[in-house]
Amino acid sequence: MSQLAAGPAARTAMSVGRETRGMGSDWVPVLAEVPLFASLSRRHLKRVAKLARTRRFASGTPIVRRGEAGAAFFVLLDGAARVLLPKGRPVRLRSGDFFGEMALLDDSPRSADVIADGEVLVMTISRSAFGKLLRSEPAIANELLRTLAARLRAAEKTV
Ligand code: CMP
Repeated sequence: MSQLAAGPAARTAMSVGRETRGMGSDWVPVLAEVPLFASLSRRHLKRVAKLARTRRFASGTPIVRRGEAGAAFFVLLDGAARVLLPKGRPVRLRSGDFFGEMALLDDSPRSADVIADGEVLVMTISRSAFGKLLRSEPAIANELLRTLAARLRAAEKTV
């Protein structure tokens, strides 16, 4: 999981009043800090920004609920979240981390609750845009797989 904080850059972008709806090219510096997008050029980051929207969640709010159908993929731009797994200890996600990919990848219900730990700003990418993004940007698919492998290893240690 990422040590990198996209938070300060996200706050800068928000302070000029662009916190809602679609993400324009002013979000590119924020996205450049997200490990999932680290190898993308500015042009490609602009494309990601065009596909995405931002959304805020109050502390304690479920962002994703276990058992529900997955409609979107999420990247934490500011704040933290807790993944409440059916078994084992909760996993903490921080700025720059992503979640909500599993239900989209295998077309199954959400595997866990993800709860806002303090006020949270996320970017969301719809199911269809996420599919297109993975097909058009192999670097994103690669980084996603790398993180999934790390999460699987961590989960195996805790069981
Ligand atoms: P999804 O199943 O769509 O919705 C819940 C999300 O929690 C899941 O996608 C992952 O993004 C995340 N998640 C599930 N299990 C773990 C785990 N062991 N470590 C980190 N994140 C997880």
